[in-house]
Amino acid sequence: MALDAAILLAAGEGTRMKTRIPKPLFTLAGKPFIIRIMSAVDHLHPHIMSVVTRYGKEQVEAVALRAFPNAVMVHQDAHPGTGRAVQCALASLEERINQLDPEQNGSILIAATDMPLLNTATLMTLLEAHDHSDDVATVLTTHLDNPYGYGRIVRAADQSVACIVEEKDATDEQRQITEVNTSVYVFKTSVLKAAIRNLNSHNAQNEFYLTDAMEFARQYGHVGACAAPDSLAVEGVNDRIQLMNLAKAYNRRICEYWMREGVTIWDPESTWIDDEVRLGHDVELLPNTFLRGRTVIGEGSLIGPDVELDTMIVGQNAHIHRALMQQSTVGACAEVGPFSYMRPGCDLGAWAKQGTYVEMKKSTIGDNTKVPHLSYIGDCTIGDHSNIGGGTITANYDGVHKNKTIIGSNVHVGVDNMFVAPVEIADGVTTGAGAVIRHYVHCGSLAYSENTQHEVHNWHPKAQ
Ligand code: UD1
Ligand code: MG
Repeated sequence: MALDAAILLAAGEGTRMKTRIPKPLFTLAGKPFIIRIMSAVDHLHPHIMSVVTRYGKEQVEAVALRAFPNAVMVHQDAHPGTGRAVQCALASLEERINQLDPEQNGSILIAATDMPLLNTATLMTLLEAHDHSDDVATVLTTHLDNPYGYGRIVRAADQSVACIVEEKDATDEQRQITEVNTSVYVFKTSVLKAAIRNLNSHNAQNEFYLTDAMEFARQYGHVGACAAPDSLAVEGVNDRIQLMNLAKAYNRRICEYWMREGVTIWDPESTWIDDEVRLGHDVELLPNTFLRGRTVIGEGSLIGPDVELDTMIVGQNAHIHRALMQQSTVGACAEVGPFSYMRPGCDLGAWAKQGTYVEMKKSTIGDNTKVPHLSYIGDCTIGDHSNIGGGTITANYDGVHKNKTIIGSNVHVGVDNMFVAPVEIADGVTTGAGAVIRHYVHCGSLAYSENTQHEVHNWHPKAQ
């Protein structure tokens, strides 16, 4: 079937979220709602993918266009309602749609953007149902035990859709209906154009309801409904309680998927895994672990408890506990934590260690090198088999520029050293306790700095 256009409704105020963030930019499993839905729709290859915006317009459009530069942004004027959003979209897309081949007898898909788990499979089910019927319009529905707040599907005697009634406009009898509108529809293009013209705002919310277009479409033929195969995929988010319920349900699915794939998850309730995370066999996740973005974890690694990894690449058999780590890589068998902070741009080698209370930033740590305690390593490169004493600080910032520290392989840095960057020490160097290293140290040397100890005898503070 030719999909002339997809119209994604993202102009609503999201009043019930009580937020300054536009609702389409709320995230679930690491991705904004709008991107999730655009990705699902993109797989259907509509000729035009459009997004209707108004509230938070600039922000929503920026995010949408960054991911889908060919999408068409449509402005909704001050008249409220889902129907008005579609009227604005059709007016704006008219020329483009008219250029498409009318012989193809195309259709238009419309979807709200507050169903973050709407997926291609669900949309395909709707399109196929529409295609295999004589429907001029088909709405995607679901059955809910508690349909409160949703538009109810009112069926005619022949089981076609007679109309959709909003909660606020429904009679007590209609409120008993448990089949609800998901806000996903497909219309024959010509029928949508005609049906959308007749909308009015004579209803409890004084809005132009898109749902009324279904009733008007009956003038042109049969209006049908198709049940969504997966109710989670069509669950709407209107407030933060719905968001959290959905996030939890979806996260549970992700955790179960990974458990089936050979990952041990001790506490799925407190383990949060984003969509694009990839986990090897025998990865073990302990409670309170957050795996975000495109994090990849190699086979047999032990992660947690209390770990947050954002877009990290972790090798096999690594062990990370109590750490926050961002946009970096960790080699096989490396050890991190507890209480470690790895900021973006780090590369920790195989069998290497970032120990307790160690912060790293934009640093490369060679294989088998250990930074075990209480250190700050920033803009630094350390070779292999080196050991950095506790309390070592790279003074990488001179107040104007960030400068590099280079430490060679097989180096033994004493405790409490300070590297005043830019500075370099070669392979095989040993430094004394409390050394302040400001200059190049040659291969195999011992470097120490004077730190004279004084002693005053018979010192009685109270008597002074
Ligand atoms: C809507 C449906 C309801 C359905 C429910 C499913 C209408 C009248 N009601 O109600 O039948 O059961 O979705 O979740 O359509 N939007 C705009 N412009 C606007 C108003 C809304 O683009 O002026 C967008 C919103 O950004 C959102 C979508 O339309 O993505 C739905 O709006 P929302 O206010 O959430 O409608 P519901 O009350 O949930
Ligand atoms: Mg809604």
